[in-house]
Amino acid sequence: DGSKLWGGRFVGATDPVMEKFNASIAYDQRMWDEDIRGSKAYVMALQKAGLVTQEEMEQIHGGLDKVFVEWSSGKFHIKPGDEDVHTANERRLKELIGEAAGKLHTGRSRNDQVVTDMRLWLRNGIDTLKGNAIELINTMVERAAIEILFPGYTHMQRAQPIRWSHWILSHAVALSRDVEQVEEIRRRVNVLPLGSGAIAGNPFNIDRELLRKELDFDGISINSMDATGQRDFVAEFLFWGSMCLTHLSKMAEDLILYSTKEFSFISLSDAYSTGSSLMPQKKNADSLELIRSKAGRVFGRCAGFLMTLKGLPSTYNKDLQEDKEAMFDVYDTVHAVLQVATGVISTLKVNQKHMEAALSPDMLATDLAYYLVRKGVPFREAHSCSGKAVYQAESKNVPLNQLTVKDLHSASPLFDSDVSSVWDYTSSVEQYSAPGGTARSSVTAQIEHMRAWLKAH
Ligand code: ARG
Repeated sequence: DGSKLWGGRFVGATDPVMEKFNASIAYDQRMWDEDIRGSKAYVMALQKAGLVTQEEMEQIHGGLDKVFVEWSSGKFHIKPGDEDVHTANERRLKELIGEAAGKLHTGRSRNDQVVTDMRLWLRNGIDTLKGNAIELINTMVERAAIEILFPGYTHMQRAQPIRWSHWILSHAVALSRDVEQVEEIRRRVNVLPLGSGAIAGNPFNIDRELLRKELDFDGISINSMDATGQRDFVAEFLFWGSMCLTHLSKMAEDLILYSTKEFSFISLSDAYSTGSSLMPQKKNADSLELIRSKAGRVFGRCAGFLMTLKGLPSTYNKDLQEDKEAMFDVYDTVHAVLQVATGVISTLKVNQKHMEAALSPDMLATDLAYYLVRKGVPFREAHSCSGKAVYQAESKNVPLNQLTVKDLHSASPLFDSDVSSVWDYTSSVEQYSAPGGTARSSVTAQIEHMRAWLKAH
């Protein structure tokens, strides 16, 4: 099989099914640009090391520029024997410039080449996703600037009145940690492996510092076996995508519930809803359901790839070729989810009336206990007294705030006519003024914090 880059020691042809099974060109062609950039830098290092002449370097650069133009204009022709993007680019380079192309791969292996391409690609991908996430956070913070109270839930049971802005900020804050985490991952991605060869390193004293500068990496890898054989940077990215979409699946689940007729807290824009082919009245929250679902898909990629990594022997094994589909799929999925989520959040209608109408006095039972606490009753006792009042209201089948002071006396003699001040949702939320709480001052501080965070990112 002498036509292949590695064909020298082969006499027999590759089985066609094996050929297809082995090839990664169908998906790794996405890195054509990174592959060409890596090669252009590498040939400069070869020239500096005296392995190619100035003239040969210029020839190779010229050829690679032509390959670049072919890819970018959609004219690059993938041939049946092209195993991956690296072999395809080199094959084409040789067609364009002839024998000089044969010097490009001196001291280089596809093992250090592929992982260089991936790090270049992912670094760029991370920047795009970070931009998408920041846009979403920005949209959420903008939509937090509205004064509405509605029921907060724990265990999906009515808990305490909160501000709508408090709810939306809770999701923005979680996403801001995703952004911070991906910045950290980017630092570890942005390390140059080129010059590691297949396993042992580079025998031609290649200037790796020159490569680093040319390709704008922050540092160079420390150990050639580690550099070619580890894919922790991919696994980290897959986990990051999983966590980010897990955050968004939680938000989506809330919004799906809030968009039901029974809740009617929000209405989804037509732009992000779909209908039923059978039931004419339906308006389904498909955008949110898909956002919710994608967390599962992405985590599947993460779990699957970790399974592939587990127990691999040192250095490069072909198993590692599986890294790319996982990386691209997680990138594409997170990219889409973040954009759709931004659209959903920026266009959804908040139904203030329904939100406020959904508040009920039982959600102030905690405040009833705090009323007693403020009169010196230990909280445990106050909790029990308020619980008795709740029980009483339930047995009399009246709302909690309809109990008379006399009724309340059977729970605690300390209840007085000023208990009426408890039944006010606004003064209820205003108690929560410690940082992080749902009082107006605290939520305003959270919005300011997030605006400052956005400025810094
Ligand atoms: N297509 C391969 C991959 O994606 C490139 C590296 C192949 N290296 C090798 N020695 N077979 O991992």
